[in-house]
Amino acid sequence: MARRKDEIRVADALRRAEAHAREGGDPLQVICDTLQKEHAHYDWVGIYKVEGDMLRLAAFSGPSETEHTSIRVGDGICGSAAKSGRTELVGDVNDDSRYIACFPSTRSEIVVPIKRGEDTIGEIDIDSDKPCAFSEADITLLEAVASSIAGFICDDTST
Ligand code: SME
Repeated sequence: MARRKDEIRVADALRRAEAHAREGGDPLQVICDTLQKEHAHYDWVGIYKVEGDMLRLAAFSGPSETEHTSIRVGDGICGSAAKSGRTELVGDVNDDSRYIACFPSTRSEIVVPIKRGEDTIGEIDIDSDKPCAFSEADITLLEAVASSIAGFICDDTST
C-alpha cells in the first residue's frame, strides 16, 4: 500500500517536473522538493550531476546548502556511488571512513546513481538525521525515481 502511494506520488512529481521544465523551470528542483516534503526521514535531498570526474550539486531541498557542492568522483559516499554505479546505503555515517560530513545532524545516508545506459550521469543523495533511516523500500523508490529523471540531466558534453 505504501509502495502504491509512492508510485502515485512519483508519477505526480514527474508530471509536475515536466510541466515546470516546459515553463523554463528546473525539473530537478521539483523532484528534490517533492521527495523531501513527502518523506519525514529525508532531511536533506540533493541531486548531483556528473561533469567529467566531478560531481556538481544541481538542486537541493533542505534547511541549508551543503558546502560540498563539488565532489570528486571516488571521494566520499557520493563519489563512491558515482564510481561504482551502485546504490550506497550507510546506516551510520560515523562508522564509514569514506563519509564527507555536510551537516552535524546527519546520521545515515543513501546515494542512488542516475544512469544513462552503463554511464552514471548523476545521483540522488539523501541525508537523514535518524540512524539506519533507509530501507529496501527507499532503495526501490529512489532507483525508480533515478531512472525516471535521467532525461532531466543535461548531457553537457553532447552540446
Ligand atoms: N556525505 C556525502 C557528501 C555530500 S553531503 O551529504 C550533502 C559524502 O560522503 O559523499
